[in-house]
Amino acid sequence: MGDLSSVGFLSIASLAEVAVPHFLTASIFSAQSGQSAIFSKNIKIVVSLCLISGIFSGVRSCCFGIANMILVRRMRETLYSTLIFQDIAFFDAETIGDLTSRLGSDCQQVSRVIGNDFNLIFRNLLQGTGTLIFLFMISWPLALSMLLICAGLAVVMLFYGRFQKMLAKLMQDFTAGANEVSQETLSLIRTVRIYGTEGKEIERYMIWLERLWDLSLRQSVGYGFWSLSYNFFYHITQIVAVLVGGISIICGHMTPEQLTKFVLYAEWLIYSAWWVGDNWSSLMQSMGASEKPHVMLSQGANLHGKPSLEQLLPHGAGVLMGSWRKRQWGEYCPPRGIQMQELVGHIEFVDVSFCYPSRLMVPAVEHVNLSIQPNKILAIVGRSGSGKSTITNLLLGLYEPSNGEILVDGIPLGDLDIRWFRERIGFVGQEPPIFRMDVSSNIRYGCTRETTQEEVERAAEQALAHEFIHSLPNSYSTLVDSALLSGGQKQRIAIARAILRDPTILILDEATSALDAETEHYVKELLLSAGNASMEKKLSLSLLTGCQQYRLQIK
Ligand SMILES: Nc1ncnc2c1ncn2[C@@H]1O[C@H](COP(=O)(O)OP(=O)(O)OP(=O)(O)O)[C@@H](O)[C@H]1O
Ligand SMILES: [Mg+2]
Repeated sequence: MGDLSSVGFLSIASLAEVAVPHFLTASIFSAQSGQSAIFSKNIKIVVSLCLISGIFSGVRSCCFGIANMILVRRMRETLYSTLIFQDIAFFDAETIGDLTSRLGSDCQQVSRVIGNDFNLIFRNLLQGTGTLIFLFMISWPLALSMLLICAGLAVVMLFYGRFQKMLAKLMQDFTAGANEVSQETLSLIRTVRIYGTEGKEIERYMIWLERLWDLSLRQSVGYGFWSLSYNFFYHITQIVAVLVGGISIICGHMTPEQLTKFVLYAEWLIYSAWWVGDNWSSLMQSMGASEKPHVMLSQGANLHGKPSLEQLLPHGAGVLMGSWRKRQWGEYCPPRGIQMQELVGHIEFVDVSFCYPSRLMVPAVEHVNLSIQPNKILAIVGRSGSGKSTITNLLLGLYEPSNGEILVDGIPLGDLDIRWFRERIGFVGQEPPIFRMDVSSNIRYGCTRETTQEEVERAAEQALAHEFIHSLPNSYSTLVDSALLSGGQKQRIAIARAILRDPTILILDEATSALDAETEHYVKELLLSAGNASMEKKLSLSLLTGCQQYRLQIK
């Protein structure tokens, strides 16, 4: 509806503008011939047309601005939700700098299609057509010659548009490359400082800046060439109009008033053609920039737990259409797969082999057979790189086995509602992530049941985290992130997070590697005793890696 009214305002403003030269010339010539009544009528019409065109242009700009806003928001929302649900293998192949660049500058660039280019192309096409009609009414041979000149300009415009599209795609890729480098360097700034590689990092960034510079140069030269062509065709218009028009006046086929109108309209025509060309090239740039986000949006769902693009765009609406409305979480990710009455926790790996998608030739684990009974603990030991973390990744459903099957209480993992299953797992990894939020929120992270502050603090106490949290400036309300805590503190927060979830299955992947020996011993005892229900928990499985106590040797 909003889009239609914008187009309506645009059409009225354009038609009013097109009629102005006609009445302007008529006013001048009526004044010259002393027809004061006609003169005053014409002046009134000119004033009305200017007012209508001014007001409707303003409303049109506002409407297209709003449409643009909705588009950017919708695109970012859709792209972000698509990214969030991508398979983990996708993130093995893509870099964060590149993805954030797509979300930021690419979406902005694409939104110009509606907010600016589409709007202006339509306006100028409408004005150009109106102008052409006036020209044909004045003199058809002259109008035809103008049309030929515009055709010449259109050919240049097509080539220029293609050139711009190619450059824009490269420009977005290079910008993403520069973002990638800066993002990596800034997030690893401590390492950079320790190794004294600031100069090298600047050089790495400069390579991308050089490439961007080179492209910008080509863009500027291209634009210069486009301006030159426009000027050439513009002056040809004037020369042809005066030459042919002058001869027509001498021969008595045309009046000076008609020629004046014709020159004004001819200028208007070439001006409209120029704008169409300019916006066309800009449209091509936007299309070039949209290629990568478009590919990302159309990536098919292939792992359970990931919604399809139709679910991300409810009611089958296209990315560019429809107005934005806030959606509930369930709309993004409706439940799918089997939800059991109760998860008992019998886990079986049947001849499981797996290669990471980024290294298809090298198996990370081969022919793994495991059977873990409820309320039992399994510890997996093995050399570094032997595949311990890979086994936990497979059990968490982050990747699908290349061969074999994982059964949970006799049901293939792929048939389960993976979100339901993960809600019942407590996981503490080798390098536990800490989000940039307060300590309480970090401990509560991912816990679906309502929890009180007392429960949070009790979990922190059990994970031996309470003492250090208490010494933070704002205790549990202190804002933390990965860089602001020690490795052991991060692990203790992650352990508290796992305890708070009250999981049926606990997976510890070297979860205590950063703790001091005494704390490690205490925490391991605590977590292992949970298997005997001494913490009033009902852990049916603890899968520990790197633990010497209960062994399953791999490789
Ligand atoms: N995302 C990934 N993409 C490609 N290969 C990977 C990926 N993660 C791990 N690998 C490879 O898979 C193999 C098993 O790695 P894994 O992390 O499971 O070992 P690990 O036993 O946990 O080692 P560590 O004791 O050092 O933690 C290694 O050769 C590793 O290089
Ligand atoms: Mg590991």
